[in-house]
Amino acid sequence: MNLFPFQKISFLLVITSTICLLYIPRSLGEKDDEQYLNCSASFQCANILNIGYPFWGSSRPNYCGYPEFKLNCTGDAPVISFQDEDYRVLDINQSASTFRIARTDYWNNVCPASPGNTTIEVNHVEYASDVQELLLFYDCPPLNIPLPIQLTSQFNCSINSTANYINYFVTQNLTNSRLTNISGTFGTCNTTITTRVSQSASVNLAMNSTKDNLVAVLDSGFGLKWDASNNLCKQCNETGGQCGYNTSTTEFTCYCKDGPNPSNCAEFLCYFQSLHHGKLSYLATNAKGLWLKIWSGLETSEGRKQDWVFELGLRRR
Ligand SMILES: *[C@@H]1O[C@H](CO)[C@@H](O)[C@H](O)[C@H]1NC(C)=O
Ligand SMILES: *[C@@H]1O[C@H](CO)[C@@H](O)[C@H](O)[C@H]1NC(C)=O
Ligand SMILES: *[C@@H]1O[C@H](CO)[C@@H](O)[C@H](O)[C@H]1NC(C)=O
Ligand SMILES: *[C@@H]1O[C@H](CO)[C@@H](O)[C@H](O)[C@H]1NC(C)=O
Ligand SMILES: *[C@@H]1O[C@H](CO)[C@@H](O)[C@H](O)[C@H]1NC(C)=O
Ligand SMILES: *[C@@H]1O[C@H](CO)[C@@H](O)[C@H](O)[C@H]1NC(C)=O
Ligand SMILES: *[C@@H]1O[C@H](CO)[C@@H](O)[C@H](O)[C@H]1NC(C)=O
Ligand SMILES: *[C@@H]1O[C@H](CO)[C@@H](O)[C@H](O)[C@H]1NC(C)=O
Ligand SMILES: *[C@@H]1O[C@H](CO)[C@@H](O)[C@H](O)[C@H]1NC(C)=O
Ligand SMILES: *[C@@H]1O[C@H](CO)[C@@H](O)[C@H](O)[C@H]1NC(C)=O
Ligand SMILES: *[C@@H]1O[C@H](CO)[C@@H](O)[C@H](O)[C@H]1NC(C)=O
Ligand SMILES: *[C@@H]1O[C@H](CO)[C@@H](O)[C@H](O)[C@H]1NC(C)=O
Repeated sequence: MNLFPFQKISFLLVITSTICLLYIPRSLGEKDDEQYLNCSASFQCANILNIGYPFWGSSRPNYCGYPEFKLNCTGDAPVISFQDEDYRVLDINQSASTFRIARTDYWNNVCPASPGNTTIEVNHVEYASDVQELLLFYDCPPLNIPLPIQLTSQFNCSINSTANYINYFVTQNLTNSRLTNISGTFGTCNTTITTRVSQSASVNLAMNSTKDNLVAVLDSGFGLKWDASNNLCKQCNETGGQCGYNTSTTEFTCYCKDGPNPSNCAEFLCYFQSLHHGKLSYLATNAKGLWLKIWSGLETSEGRKQDWVFELGLRRR
């Protein structure tokens, strides 16, 4: 219980001055950092305007975003690739860190030549909470069991499909008890494709199971959410920086007007106070930014009493 307060105090002073020295703002008046400028530039990719971090591609250099978020802007919509599958980017919500994508090979076409599964197991990306599977079975032999009509439906592919073979789509998870029965039967189909759609689209498809609607539902895509050091990016943005990516350390970086920093463009203000049952008065009153406060004290019958306070403040440059 605070046996050596002076040792602690001098220890903290050493840390404080070290941190403060590291963060002395660089000299002003030089021209803005080029990476800062390049990542600030408004980015248009195909038909989507004002795309920002963590996306990059075309005119926007790779150090402005995470590698997973590379866009191909040559077509009529941005295209992103996840695990060797190409997806059209339908929209991006920068503030919510969400975007919607749809398979390019399934665009206006439920019978692509050699489809693969929709699998998105990549860093920094996860399915939105309403995403569910839509199963497509191609070239099935005639299934001699009754199918629950609400959940499955046939569709034809005009591309040279053998007349005896049938395609199905299933809007529900086959491992659900009611359907385990038929999953084995679908196992006899030549090709099984797992795609993703939103829950509302799946419900809509179950009610209107035409091939046209299947196309429309696949075109409406599904949602994803990103976390590309979003908290650091928020700090970086709030302190006037541009979020980016250090391609050599493969970590988040914040481009400030005077150069990159690991997390934000704030300068450190350092405070150290030792007080005896006193009150904090001026600390943090003009704070704009982030503060770290560490204190130590004794629990007494009247409540907590502070012996010393150590505070690090971040202020906008
Ligand atoms: C910034 O963008 C300009 C124009 O696109 C380019 O010429 C320059 O090389 C870029 N700077 C860096 C550091 O990438
Ligand atoms: C971008 O997509 C086009 C087709 O839309 C393709 O021809 C091109 O190779 C792609 N570019 C890259 C860098 O992947
Ligand atoms: C982006 O997401 C936020 C939060 O979910 C929402 O309020 C806003 O309407 C969305 N913006 C667009 C353009 O959809
Ligand atoms: C899709 O995934 C299913 C189950 O994971 C697998 O059985 C099937 O072979 C995959 N299809 C393709 C085209 O890879
Ligand atoms: C698929 O094609 C077959 C043969 O042409 C036809 O009998 C069947 O009705 C078609 N099914 C659908 C869902 O269009
Ligand atoms: C369909 O089969 C015919 C004859 O085998 C072939 O000439 C044609 O290219 C095929 N069409 C497609 C879309 O595969
Ligand atoms: C399908 O259902 C099983 C059991 O309810 C569950 O474990 C699995 O995660 C579900 N798959 C999907 C993609 O929802
Ligand atoms: C499969 O479902 C049908 C109809 O619901 C039922 O009659 C049959 O017993 C089921 N078979 C198995 C193996 O569960
Ligand atoms: C089944 O798939 C294989 C490989 O994709 C293909 O070569 C074969 O022609 C398919 N069979 C039918 C009946 O479509
Ligand atoms: C079913 O879906 C198709 C294609 O999206 C649409 O044109 C049609 O109006 C829908 N029918 C009903 C009854 O909703
Ligand atoms: C921070 O983000 C907001 C909202 O996305 C944007 O309007 C603002 O320009 C950003 N600040 C900087 C310095 O880029
Ligand atoms: C990347 O990190 C290295 C090592 O920390 C640093 O020297 C370099 O300046 C950083 N570059 C950028 C662009 O952040």
